[in-house]
Amino acid sequence: MKIDKIVTIDDLREAARRRLPRIAFDFIDGGVEAEHCLTRNREAFLEYRLLPRYFADVSKRSQKTTIFGKTYDSPFGICPTGLAGLWRTGADDMLAEAAAAANIPFAQSCASNSSVESVVARAPNNMWFQLYSTRDRELGRRLVGHVESVGIETLVLTADVPIAPKRERNMRNGFTRPLRFKMSTIIDGLSRPGWLAGYLQAGGGTPMMPNWQRYAKEGATPDEVADFFAGQTPASEQTWADLEHYRKLWPGNLVIKGLLHPEDAVRANNIGVDGIIVSNHGGRQLDMAPSPIEVLPLIRAAVGEKQVLMLDSGIRRGSDILIALCLGAQFCFIGRSTLYGIAAYGLPGAQKAISILRNEIDLNLAQMGRTSLAEIGPHCLMHRGSQFQIMAPEPASTRTGSAIHA
Ligand SMILES: Cc1cc2nc3c(=O)[nH]c(=O)nc-3n(C[C@H](O)[C@H](O)[C@H](O)COP(=O)(O)O)c2cc1C
Repeated sequence: MKIDKIVTIDDLREAARRRLPRIAFDFIDGGVEAEHCLTRNREAFLEYRLLPRYFADVSKRSQKTTIFGKTYDSPFGICPTGLAGLWRTGADDMLAEAAAAANIPFAQSCASNSSVESVVARAPNNMWFQLYSTRDRELGRRLVGHVESVGIETLVLTADVPIAPKRERNMRNGFTRPLRFKMSTIIDGLSRPGWLAGYLQAGGGTPMMPNWQRYAKEGATPDEVADFFAGQTPASEQTWADLEHYRKLWPGNLVIKGLLHPEDAVRANNIGVDGIIVSNHGGRQLDMAPSPIEVLPLIRAAVGEKQVLMLDSGIRRGSDILIALCLGAQFCFIGRSTLYGIAAYGLPGAQKAISILRNEIDLNLAQMGRTSLAEIGPHCLMHRGSQFQIMAPEPASTRTGSAIHA
């Protein structure tokens, strides 16, 4: 499929599906267990209607958004997505370039195959950095110190990966560490020459995780670095003390990603985070978890107006972003949308994803009779009936994080 034939994010997904071997496409596209959460993330947006107003002069429109003192050209950024070098060599460098060109933020995953220096060189004003808690706190402290030294101002701590989840597509495809391909996977890979050529050109095997390389043993191979990373995360022992620890350590903007419970959001707010990304990790962690869009109003009500709330998971349309903003998010993030673009076409594919969403936001805003994002809110939304409700308050005896490790 030629890139100029691409009209929607779903088209980009289809183009990625055609270029990648199944094992790779499924890793990006898939969710946890039965993938109910993945489906729910799309369906939750479809429960809302945007109510238009007409005879408003909408000839001049802006979707500029200011967050943490920086003004971006759209109200969305690019999510951290680890291991993207497997789908396209230099993927995160391309995502950084796309973010800089479009003036939107990009949160690099700590599990990236590009170094933080490399992405910052390409997008000095647009980079955020995402971290998982490490089992060895001292290591996390050193990593964060390094990230700060290269000029990153916003650190994103991901909360929602306490364990490695059961991703059934990966299990069926044999996506394991170290990468050992089954015969059927090799045959499938051979039928995807575009992807195979790039993969082999980059040396094949596991791509390096440069942000961990400097902490692994001298001369560690990419597989040894990946093993080192896997020994540090997920840190199942993480508690709120880890967030407090990073709050003390990090002088810049601290964002927590992956909260869904209003009480967790209140706790993060009390610890002094600068932002919360309401997220279910794109349906990749807890299959029966709510969609962020279902809990966003509860979280907004719980934390009040001052706390910066952002949202990801399931965004495939500009209208999804507008719905999230109407419900009280200040900003959104996209994960797979740009990854499909990168996997299918490299940098132009990521740019295509951004321009599709930007254009849809612009057209929908005009159709709603609004000229800026400041004009939208719950008054623009319809919803069929009652919101999801939490069925009982958390008893004090089961409150999580009460046993705080040192
Ligand atoms: C292939 C892939 C890798 C991901 N890797 C990370 C990661 O390293 N760190 C992280 O915090 N989230 C990671 N995520 C979750 C995304 O940051 C984000 O929450 C999710 O993709 C948003 O949903 P969407 O893909 O439906 O837009 C990953 C998601 C995907 C699809």
